[in-house]
Amino acid sequence: MGNVAVVGVQWGDEGKGKIVDWLSERADVVVRFQGGHNAGHTLVIGNVEYKLSLLPSGVARPGKLSIIGNGVVVDPWALVAEIDTMRLKGLDISPKNLRLADNAALILPSHGALERTREERRGDKKLGTTGRGIGPAYEDKVGRRAVRVCDLADKQALDERVDEVLLHHNALLRGLDAPPVDRGDLLAQLHEVAPRILPYADRCWRLLDEARRQSRRILFEGAQAAMLDVDHGTYPYVTSSNALAGQAAAGSGIAPSAVGYVLGITKAYTTRVGNGPFPTELNDATGEKLGERGREFGTVTGRRRRCGWFDAVAVRQAITVGGVDGIALTKLDVLDGFAEIKICTAYRRGGEILDYMPASASAQAEIEPVYETAEGWRESTRGARSWADLPATAVKYIRRLEELIGAPLALLSTSPERDDIVLVRDPFAD
Ligand code: GDP
Ligand code: IMO
Ligand code: MG
Repeated sequence: MGNVAVVGVQWGDEGKGKIVDWLSERADVVVRFQGGHNAGHTLVIGNVEYKLSLLPSGVARPGKLSIIGNGVVVDPWALVAEIDTMRLKGLDISPKNLRLADNAALILPSHGALERTREERRGDKKLGTTGRGIGPAYEDKVGRRAVRVCDLADKQALDERVDEVLLHHNALLRGLDAPPVDRGDLLAQLHEVAPRILPYADRCWRLLDEARRQSRRILFEGAQAAMLDVDHGTYPYVTSSNALAGQAAAGSGIAPSAVGYVLGITKAYTTRVGNGPFPTELNDATGEKLGERGREFGTVTGRRRRCGWFDAVAVRQAITVGGVDGIALTKLDVLDGFAEIKICTAYRRGGEILDYMPASASAQAEIEPVYETAEGWRESTRGARSWADLPATAVKYIRRLEELIGAPLALLSTSPERDDIVLVRDPFAD
């Protein structure tokens, strides 16, 4: 019995939260390893909906240890606020079930200010980020001037780290005609939040090593997705971290061999929130219908998600670069009642047919989808929990997707509700 990494293989919001929540019943530890509170992972348990951004989805199950790994960029105020919100919703969150890597980099208020100022200046070339300061925080981490969780415990170190980062931020902010950060104010804010954060700080690499030695099951919870990955996505319309399972080891501090089965999550169609190439996007009534039936509004920003048909080229590439062993197909129920369903099997660029997503943004902007048409089904698949509950045409659609993307189906999700899942093969058993 191994561990499992759950990762998105489209442009995010595939339903990773729901799948992690379902799998976490069989796991002991749930770890976030990249991204930050740009993520929005929704769990629906009975009549309560939980929208988690920084907290691993394991917090919804008593007795599981949730870890925010070193690869995550952590806004300490957002973390405190999320803990408070989830406690009000009845979740029990304390240092007993939540730990935060002491070597994780922090997101500061000026990261958000820098990001928003830069986005404004881009005019019609905006990336359409979540505005959470994710990109600037990762820049500072790689630039070796980040303030980290461990610095909150050492006043002198914190002073020095803040000087280091403000030297950079204030030069940029002044250059952009934006108000500079007041050092004293920032330090006061950090001193105030530190006592709420530090009880969770830990050497998470050691906790994971102990868990591994005790054969406890670890579930790695990816955020964003392969097509938003900083290396493999539709650059520059991507997030600022690696969102593939390859990042799970470095972003949590564990052996790559411990990551185990890689479960790629994909919707039965495609969505994207924010700007950037989206070959199968539908700017018509069908796109509207997918959005309405799928309730496609961003979890974090409330923005309307762009909708389109399933893109087998992008998903196949994500599966290849991400080493995906099997997939969880979500939101099949959203396709109920469509007479025809299209599947993108290749791209056309000028007179050329491509079986891959080209690297350059200009080529990505030019490609058009080549479709094949599948027969739809009239019956409802919503809430189906067994293969026998599915209409034959729905099964045929799933089988065709498996064939096109080159990975087998492990789980099928048929509604937002926690238990509406068809288990085809257990990722922990593989
Ligand atoms: P994540 O970011 O990958 O965790 O996905 P989000 O939570 O941002 O978006 C997925 C949305 O789809 C959420 O509102 C889920 O409750 C919902 N959802 C997940 N699985 C299904 C499903 O099988 N059917 C339907 N109709 N909704 C689903
Ligand atoms: P989950 O984990 C969907 C998108 C943003 C923007 C781009 C860069 O819920 O699937 P950023 O704020 O990260 O610098 O924004 O990435 N984006 C997401 N889209 N789901 C997410 O997370 C996303 N996180 C970031 O909309 O286009
Ligand atoms: Mg989401």
